[in-house]
Amino acid sequence: MTVKYNFDELIDRQKSDSVKWRSYGSDVLPMWIADMDFRSPEPVIQALRARVDHGVFGYPEWNTTNTDLMRELGEVIVERMASLYGWTIHPDDLLYLPSVMTGFNLACHTLTPPHNGVFIQTPIYYPILHAARDTGRLYQEMELTLNQDGAYSVDWDLFECSLDERSRLFILCNPHNPVGKVFTQDELLEVARICLRRGITICSDEIHCDLLFDGHRHTPIASLDPEIAQNTITLMAPSKTFNLPGLKCSFAIIPNPELRKQMIAAQQGLIFGVNILGLHAALAAYRDGADWLSQLMPYLQANRDYLVDFVRQELPGISLASPAATYLAWLNCRQANIPGNPGQFFLEKAGIGFNDGELYGKGGEGYVRLNFGCPRSVLAESLNRMKNALENLPG
Ligand SMILES: Cc1ncc(COP(=O)(O)O)c(C=O)c1O
Repeated sequence: MTVKYNFDELIDRQKSDSVKWRSYGSDVLPMWIADMDFRSPEPVIQALRARVDHGVFGYPEWNTTNTDLMRELGEVIVERMASLYGWTIHPDDLLYLPSVMTGFNLACHTLTPPHNGVFIQTPIYYPILHAARDTGRLYQEMELTLNQDGAYSVDWDLFECSLDERSRLFILCNPHNPVGKVFTQDELLEVARICLRRGITICSDEIHCDLLFDGHRHTPIASLDPEIAQNTITLMAPSKTFNLPGLKCSFAIIPNPELRKQMIAAQQGLIFGVNILGLHAALAAYRDGADWLSQLMPYLQANRDYLVDFVRQELPGISLASPAATYLAWLNCRQANIPGNPGQFFLEKAGIGFNDGELYGKGGEGYVRLNFGCPRSVLAESLNRMKNALENLPG
C-alpha cells in the first residue's frame, strides 16, 4: 500500500531530546545541524516497533553474515550498490560502524602513522576539518575554488602542491557538505589518479549520496575502477537519507582485505558493534523506504528552489549557488554589510540558529549554513526573519 507522506506537518521536537531543537531558546528557529524535521518512512517505524515488542535488547551480532538480519542487510546493500551505481561489492567488504564520523576518525588512526598527513578540502564539515587534529595527525588542506557563480571547483595544481611525502590519507566529501557540490566522474578520476600515484589512501564520506537533485548523479569514487576500490574506504549510512542519525548505524565498504583487517583491528576495545535498532531501521529503510524517498526528494527540491528564489529576490547582499545535493544551503553573506559574524547576527537579530561558516575552515568566513530539511512553512518563516533583520540594518 502506498503511503502519502506529509512533509508539511509540523512535528513538535522540543520534548524529543533533539539537540537541534534544544540548543537554543524556544523563540529561535533551529536551521543548523543536519537532521530533518520529518518522520522517517512508515516501514522503518513498523520495523522498529516490531523489534521493540520483542523486549530484549542484548548485543547484536557484528559478523556481517552470521544472522538473518545481517545477511539480509548485507544483501540489500550489495544489491543497492549494483543497481544504483553498477558497483559490484561483496558482503564481506562491509564493516558496520556506529557513525560515519567514527569511520573517518578510525581511518585516520588506522591508515596514517602519527604525525603523518590527513588531507582535506575546505570549507568542509567540521568533524572532517578536525579529524587530523583529533587523532594526532598532521593537518593538510587546500581550499576549494569559489567560482563567480558561487559554485566550487578544484584547482588541480593546488591539489598537487598541497600534498607532500607525509600525506597518507585524503578524506573526500562527496556530495560535499557544506557547499552542496557533486563531484563529476572526471573530477573523481583525477582525485583517484593523484592519490594512487602518491600512495595516498582515500576515505570517501558519501553519507549524502542519496540526496541528489534533478540533473545530478552520484558516483562512488571506488566504483570507477577496481584499482581505485582497492585504495578506498567508502563511508555510507541510511541516516541522512531516511532521517535516522540518532539510531547510530552506518557502514564502511572496504574491498581491500588488508585495509579492512587494519580497520577491524583498530576498533578493538573501542567499538563493539552497532545499535540493534539501527540495524533493523537500516534494513527497513533500504529495503522498503524507496517510496518515502521518492516523495521526499521532490519536496526537498521544491524547498531548495523556494530558498534560492527567495534569496535572489528578497535578500540583497546574500547569495548562493543552488546546491546539487544535500538539504544544506551555503549562504554567502559577505556583501550584506552585516556587522561582525553573520551567524551571530542572525541568531541575535532574527532568532535563527544557523551553522556559522567559520566553523568549516578556510573559505567559510562570512557564510552561514542553512538546513532546509524542514516543512516549507518553517523555511519561509526563517527567510522572512532574515529579510526583516537585514532591512533593519543601519544604512
Ligand atoms: C558529510 C558528513 N559526514 C558525516 C556526518 C555525520 O554522520 P554520523 O552521524 O554518521 O557520524 C555528517 C552529518 O552531518 C555529514 O554531513
